[in-house]
Amino acid sequence: MLSIAVFGSGAGSNFMAILTAIQQGNLPAARISLVLSNNSGAGILGIARANGLPAIHLSRKQFPDERSFADTVLSMLRDHGANFIALAGYMKQVPPEVVAAYRKRIVNIHPALLPRFGGAGMYGLRVHEAVLASGETTSGATVHYVDEEYDNGPVVLQQTVPVLPGDTPASLAARVLAAEHQIYPAAIGRIAQSERAAEHHHN
Ligand code: GAR
Repeated sequence: MLSIAVFGSGAGSNFMAILTAIQQGNLPAARISLVLSNNSGAGILGIARANGLPAIHLSRKQFPDERSFADTVLSMLRDHGANFIALAGYMKQVPPEVVAAYRKRIVNIHPALLPRFGGAGMYGLRVHEAVLASGETTSGATVHYVDEEYDNGPVVLQQTVPVLPGDTPASLAARVLAAEHQIYPAAIGRIAQSERAAEHHHN
C-alpha cells in the first residue's frame, strides 16, 4: 500500500485529482496519509481539511536551521505512516535529508515535457512563458521521480498537449493542467500496482 504524503504550496488541483481517483476506487493500492504545505493559506490544506485528512503547515521559516526543519518533516512523515511522497505544486525544495530517507519514493509533477523547460526557476507560469517564447508547437506534463537535483529523476509518465496559435501563458497552463490531472493519478496507480505485484511476489 502506498501511504502518500502530498506536499503542495497552491490551489491543490493535482491533489484533488489524486484524492478523487482514490475516493472513486480507481487507486485501490494507495491512500493519503497527510498533506503538508509551506503556505498556511494554501488551497491544498483546505481540501485536506474538508476531507478529514491531516493538514500540516510546516515552513523552513519556522525553524532556526535546515536540519531542524528536515527532522520535523521526517517525524511528521513517520508519525502519519507515510511511505511515499507526492509533490503537487510544491514550490520549495525538499530537504536533502528527506530525499535521502525517501529515495525512489518521491514523485513530482512538472508542467512541461522534461528534460526541457525544467530546472531552477522553472515553475508555474514561467514554464509556459518559456515554452511560448521558444516557439514550440507541443508542450505537456511530466510525472518524474525526485532526486537532489531540480526536475532531474526518471520519468514515470508524460502527456503532450498542443501549443495553439494565440496561446497566452495562462491558456497554455490551463491545457497542461488538464493533462496533469490525467497523468498524476495514473502514474500513482502504476507505481502502487507494481509495488503490490512485488509484495505478492515476495510473499
Ligand atoms: C501545477 O501546474 C504543477 O505542475 C506546478 O504547479 C501547479 C500546481 O497546481 N508545479 C510546478 O511548477 C513545480 N515546479 P495545483 O496546486 O492546482 O496542483
